Amino acid sequence: MLSDRQQHCLRGIGVRLWRDRLPGDVHRLEPVSVPALPDAAPRPGIVIPEAGGIAANYRPAQESAVNDKQSEAKPAPTKKETPSLGNWGDIIGAIHDCVACELSQNCTQKVPGVGDHQADLLIVGEGPGHDEDIRGEPFVGRSGQLLDRMLAAIGIEREQVYITNIVKCRPPNNRDPKADEAQQCRLYLEAQIRQIAPRVILAVGRVSAHNLLGSNLPVGKLIREMHQLPGTDIPLKVTYHPAYLLRNPLAKAIAWQDLKQLHQLLQ
Ligand code: URA
Repeated sequence: MLSDRQQHCLRGIGVRLWRDRLPGDVHRLEPVSVPALPDAAPRPGIVIPEAGGIAANYRPAQESAVNDKQSEAKPAPTKKETPSLGNWGDIIGAIHDCVACELSQNCTQKVPGVGDHQADLLIVGEGPGHDEDIRGEPFVGRSGQLLDRMLAAIGIEREQVYITNIVKCRPPNNRDPKADEAQQCRLYLEAQIRQIAPRVILAVGRVSAHNLLGSNLPVGKLIREMHQLPGTDIPLKVTYHPAYLLRNPLAKAIAWQDLKQLHQLLQ
């Protein structure tokens, strides 16, 4: 049976419980007992290749590649030398100093990520939106509030995970990051993954899933299977982006299945 708190959390993300349903509702929700997550235990080292390892498997998302044509028109700002990314401070500093692509010229500030950089769970979104660009923190707008409620539904606080994005600067008008922008930012994400050595990665949305997996399959297909971050043995789960769930509330029942699977992986 679900506890009152779990029922509250699920209603908070818009999942209707069986007792809320009208007869004939097709979206069945199994009652599930979700125990609190155990304290983080020391874990065996995860081997993450140096820069180029994950990137070697990287194939840009189709949609982003199409946008590439437009990016050829404007030369990108002069690139600084490859920064040293040996520790967490170096990585965050390098992100703040980055001028590798045009996004850095137009954003209010860089949004490297937030949370516990020794977390078991790493959540990767697409890129900062308007609210994130102003606040300097990922997932703080409406999507972020839904993401927080989704995590709460499986007993996880935002502070217990690390949250970042494929690109650390806001793409203008919330367009998808272009392939070259994602590629420029990739060394920061790889360095973050090496440092965090998460037990599980959750890719939220198409842009995140396509960039992390080097796949162009629809998210609806990718969420059906468990994946591994290419070049590593880190389990990678794909789920719908909260912005998509806000527009398509019926998909929340599927996202709830993803969350339950994620919770099991973290046990
Ligand atoms: N959407 C994302 O993908 N990332 C954010 O940080 C905010 C909204």
